[in-house]
Amino acid sequence: MTQRIRKAVFPVAGLGTRFLPATKTVPKEMLPIVDRPLIQYAVDEAIEAGCDTLVFITNRYKHAVADYFDKAYELEQKLEKAGKFEQLEVVRHVLPQGVQAVFVTQAEALGLGHAVLCARAVIGDEPFAVLLPDDLIWNRNGDGALKQMADHAQAHGVGAIAVQDVPREQTASYGIVETEGFQDRSGAIRRMVEKPKPEDAPSTLAVVGRYILPGVIFEHLEKTGRGAGGEIQLTDAIASLLADHQVDAYRFRGTRFDCGTHIGLVEATIRFALDHEKISDAARDSMATALRELGVTDVS
Ligand code: G1P
Repeated sequence: MTQRIRKAVFPVAGLGTRFLPATKTVPKEMLPIVDRPLIQYAVDEAIEAGCDTLVFITNRYKHAVADYFDKAYELEQKLEKAGKFEQLEVVRHVLPQGVQAVFVTQAEALGLGHAVLCARAVIGDEPFAVLLPDDLIWNRNGDGALKQMADHAQAHGVGAIAVQDVPREQTASYGIVETEGFQDRSGAIRRMVEKPKPEDAPSTLAVVGRYILPGVIFEHLEKTGRGAGGEIQLTDAIASLLADHQVDAYRFRGTRFDCGTHIGLVEATIRFALDHEKISDAARDSMATALRELGVTDVS
């Protein structure tokens, strides 16, 4: 896969039940980390990696995602009139010029593999990226995770999947890969299992929500039946792809926050607040005060 990726798929049709009642009306991808919704972080990462076509796999409860990426004429006019140029720039840069958003409906929630298959008509047969916005990856002063992976995929002519080490007792929450000849940051995937029990897991190297895949994955997805949890799993289609395509596990530089969980969302919020150009000092003071008032003295 020496071709550069241009298209990125964002599966955003999930129900977000963990965050009820907030997600009764607000899609989980729109929950903010300080001042930007979760989806914006994934979108920025894809654009940084060179993508100019963003494909959102959505459903009828997720209009807020499409509205967010639409041009807000009235709001822009009002901000301009009021001389609020900084905010105007922020609103205009939700999607930079030259980047287009495409929305595809996933009528039935049949799993991640099915969601990706819904993008087939837009992707065609070129290599593309998949980003799961729940996984927020922060690499403070360096390249984003997808850019690192795109460089690797292009340099070696392979597919790539982001991985990180997890404690063995957590393997049932992830796709787990078995690799061969792991060196430096990457190794060829030999086997892949979706959410194995700790005693069945072939390793503790877990898939994080970033993938670079060849277009031929759609042929495998077509043939993939229901797997773990009764869903059509992307992991199973990739496992089938491995017979004739090299896909590397890539251990990215950066920190991953699992924003599909309460604690992950809070951790990301704390980290971005402490690093925010306008509120970092106030955030630090506020956290110190909170710990003091709650009588937390051991913060080692
Ligand atoms: C999905 C994938 C899984 C991967 C995980 C990463 O699972 O199916 O292989 O490890 O994302 O976040 P989900 O968390 O959507 O159940």
